[in-house]
Amino acid sequence: MTTCASPLQPNEHYDLVSRAMHWLMFLLFAWIYCSAITHYLASDSTLDKWLWPFHKPVGLLLLILLVLRAGWSLLSRHLRPPSISRIAATGHGMLYALMFLIPLIGMIRQYGSGRAFSAFGVPVMDGFEGEKIQWMVDLGSNFHSLLGWTMLVLILGHVAAVIVHYWQGDAQVLQRMTRGGRKH
Ligand code: HEM
Ligand code: HEM
Repeated sequence: MTTCASPLQPNEHYDLVSRAMHWLMFLLFAWIYCSAITHYLASDSTLDKWLWPFHKPVGLLLLILLVLRAGWSLLSRHLRPPSISRIAATGHGMLYALMFLIPLIGMIRQYGSGRAFSAFGVPVMDGFEGEKIQWMVDLGSNFHSLLGWTMLVLILGHVAAVIVHYWQGDAQVLQRMTRGGRKH
């Protein structure tokens, strides 16, 4: 006997908007980590001079995309496939928290430094005369890079988990994020 799927039943796969946001942000994260690693290992290199000026603008773009992605995942929560395990749900929750906190702390430090900031030619902060706002600068100096490297470790763990599922013959986990799909 076949049953008719209700429009409010969750899908087997993530919807097109969630998949597009995931892979677009993956590309931008790959880019921003190339800039961070080059800056850390070879801050005087030609590659760094080419990549680094875009670190802050791309970071701000990632923050804006994250807010849209989180908003969409809340709006479409009844249609999203359920998490495959509690560990996966916790890991994804931690990634969301770090994707928000890292660029936010970067922006707070930028504001506290009193320096003007434009992203892709659009003025974002005017800057101000006088003393820096020290707690903002300290917050950034103490936590931005630290949390940035922590998230890189989590991302590697996230990718490793997908590969392990694939090797164990469970290609469905990867397909949830690469294919559209029918309802249950
Ligand atoms: C999700 C987005 C972001 C990620 C993953 C990220 C990641 C990182 C990482 C890993 C570092 C360490 C690099 C090193 O030690 O040389 C770093 C440094 C830095 N980031 Fe970001 N960042 C992001 C967004 C931003 C934003 C939005 C701003 C400012 C508007 C910013 C400003 C900086 C600055 C100024 C440094 C140099 C810090 C230092 O030399 O102590 N970042 N970032
Ligand atoms: C090669 C790189 C990547 C691969 C192969 C990959 C693969 C996947 C897959 C297969 C899922 C679905 C898992 C499930 O059904 O439970 C997923 C979900 C997710 N991934 Fe990734 N991913 C990659 C990179 C990233 C990066 C760079 C981030 C963010 C920093 C990220 C954050 C997330 C989050 C938050 C979810 C939960 C679904 C959502 O709300 O969007 N992924 N990923």
